[in-house]
Amino acid sequence: MNMAENILKITGTKEEQYLGLIPQIEGVITGETNFIANLSNVTAILKFQFNWLWVGFYIVVEEELVVGPYQGPLACTRIKAGKGVCGKSWSTAKTIIVDDVNKYPGHIACSSLSQSEIVVPLIQNKLVIAVLDADSEMLAHFDETDRKYLEIICGKIIETLQH
Ligand code: SME
Repeated sequence: MNMAENILKITGTKEEQYLGLIPQIEGVITGETNFIANLSNVTAILKFQFNWLWVGFYIVVEEELVVGPYQGPLACTRIKAGKGVCGKSWSTAKTIIVDDVNKYPGHIACSSLSQSEIVVPLIQNKLVIAVLDADSEMLAHFDETDRKYLEIICGKIIETLQH
């Protein structure tokens, strides 16, 4: 069993950090089929490594996104399809990077400290079942490296469900 204290903080470039993190994430989630458990542990690992302002998941429940496991300031509980960055990522099934949330029409501000954001959909059988959301206190904090590796991580979470 992988104990949380065995998770190591990785140093290096952003890409090196993700490359070090992914095997650790696999070690924790592989063989665990409980969706909430995996979302919770991935949230904790990402927060520990990157210390973003807010990181967590919204889960598709009927016609809305409902907040799931997260770390950071209190978040809004429900988001309707197409609303905010999360709702847009859900309705388009695409990752969205927002360099300046103050300039994003319809952005839902859960914390006034948030300046930039990335939202990545978790897609199972062509359907978005949840989204990963990360917020930063810095402008333009998220880039194509985050997109690439967060999409890989979300794909690995989906793989744990296919058993
Ligand atoms: N900013 C998001 C809402 C969720 S919070 O940032 C945690 C959005 O616009 O969808």
